[in-house]
Amino acid sequence: MTLFKRIHHVGVAVERLDEAVALYESAFGMTRGLRAALPERGVEVQFLHLPGSTVELLAPLGDDSPVARFLARRGPGMHHLCYEVDNIEEALSRLTASGVEPIDPVPRPGAEGKLVAFLQPKSTAGVLIELQQA
Ligand code: CO
Repeated sequence: MTLFKRIHHVGVAVERLDEAVALYESAFGMTRGLRAALPERGVEVQFLHLPGSTVELLAPLGDDSPVARFLARRGPGMHHLCYEVDNIEEALSRLTASGVEPIDPVPRPGAEGKLVAFLQPKSTAGVLIELQQA
């Protein structure tokens, strides 16, 4: 049975959101979608769309957030890959049974209000994976 339905979006970490949005919008021709600040996660995000494809730009809110630490360690660039699933609880339990380690054992609402959970990159061949319930 298929677990992942499709890639929902690609997450890209940036230092300054407005500068990056201008690049994606003006130079790349992408369309602005939802923008949301998630202070409890220390991040502000901006979604940009092409027909059938989405990029999520993530900029840190404050110096002591996971995205700020990512930028300090690795610099701006690819941050995560988000896969859409039908049932996130079931996906997490099947992945856990396969030896994949969740960062969020309990799904939580993401920027778009849908349930999300991240997986530990050490258990996914080095890629930070986000699951999002359709
Ligand atoms: Co995401």
